[in-house]
Amino acid sequence: MQEHGTGESPIPTAAATDDGTFFGRMNDPTGAGVVQGSCGDTMEFYIVVRNETIEDVKFYTDGCANTRSCGTAAARRALGRKVTDALSISAGEIIRSGECEPLAGRHCAILAVSTLCRAIADYLLQP
Ligand code: FES
Repeated sequence: MQEHGTGESPIPTAAATDDGTFFGRMNDPTGAGVVQGSCGDTMEFYIVVRNETIEDVKFYTDGCANTRSCGTAAARRALGRKVTDALSISAGEIIRSGECEPLAGRHCAILAVSTLCRAIADYLLQP
């Protein structure tokens, strides 16, 4: 793992935090969302909700390694959470966690969280 800066806490690089666990598409999600970011990259999020709990989550993106890292960070926070509780996952907490490249990569965290929320809304707003 590479480290940034000289602080006490090592900050993992974007590539180091994406192990591919959550990367991919899903055939039969109970909620799905697609958002195109300001950079032109697209992210997709898929969730499976049972008993109001997110039991499975996947994302797909054509974006860079930092975008994948942010998608992984959002997915890891969403897995096992009550679906309405997962709406409280913020881009800010992902940026502050070091799982996202600071400054230049902040929009990737915003894209990831926005797409997760879109998938949750798709589930919650079903008739
Ligand atoms: Fe496009 Fe990260 S570079 S969302």
